[in-house]
Amino acid sequence: MRTYLVLLGPPGAGKGTQAALLSQRLGVPHVSSGDLFRDHIRGKTDLGKLADGYISCGQLVPDEVTIAMIRERLSRTDAQGGALLDGFPRTPAQAEALGRLTQELGGDVRAVVYLRVPESVLVGRLTGRWTCRAQGHVYHERNHPPKTAGVCDLDGSELIQRDDDKEETVLRRLGVYRAQTELLIEHYRGAGLLVEIDGSQPEAEVTASMMAALKGRLE
Ligand code: AP5
Ligand code: MG
Repeated sequence: MRTYLVLLGPPGAGKGTQAALLSQRLGVPHVSSGDLFRDHIRGKTDLGKLADGYISCGQLVPDEVTIAMIRERLSRTDAQGGALLDGFPRTPAQAEALGRLTQELGGDVRAVVYLRVPESVLVGRLTGRWTCRAQGHVYHERNHPPKTAGVCDLDGSELIQRDDDKEETVLRRLGVYRAQTELLIEHYRGAGLLVEIDGSQPEAEVTASMMAALKGRLE
């Protein structure tokens, strides 16, 4: 039976940071809708060109193309055991599609980890973020600096800042999250799937809290 886990939370909550660790420990691939869109943008595909217009101004990419992209990703052979989803679903239509898709693939959503972080902390996290060009490893100029400025500790590639991490775009992304995504918290709480974690703790403590909370659900 395939196991799917979802990481839910506002921009800057630490989804990407925690997903990298969690996917290694669980042995399922990390599937980030944002990273998939950024791969398409770099590859200058038709989907990349479409997505770029939305991402650069902090809006959501339309459901239909987002769902099709995730469907294709979850059907690949490395996701035969399931996947850890980061940034998907983000709307009620995407949540409904994920329920259908996981059933079709012979699995289910085992838990939805909600990383709760106060909004006052998020802007500083995003405007101070540096990401590695090669594989998207995540750093922060104060909270998690690389050993050598501008260079990824893990693969030596250049660290860059995301275009949508400018303060103005970050504020727009937070507004979009409140308007379109936040309601999924109650949806998944009602379904008995929500695992709520204090995401404002240091990284290692967030990981430990998540692992402890997920233990019973993943057996
Ligand atoms: P996406 O790439 O998913 O961005 P996001 O959801 O806005 O989230 P972020 O990646 O900005 O934050 P994160 O939670 O991963 O935090 P991170 O670990 O990096 O989406 C980008 C865009 O793509 C969207 O705006 C939209 O346009 C489009 N899109 C994506 N999915 C879509 C969908 N499903 N539907 C439609 N459109 C979609 O951490 C942030 C910083 O904080 C880092 O610097 C990190 O080092 C630091 N940090 C992390 N944890 C801690 C900690 N515990 N303490 C201190 N600092 C920490
Ligand atoms: Mg991310």
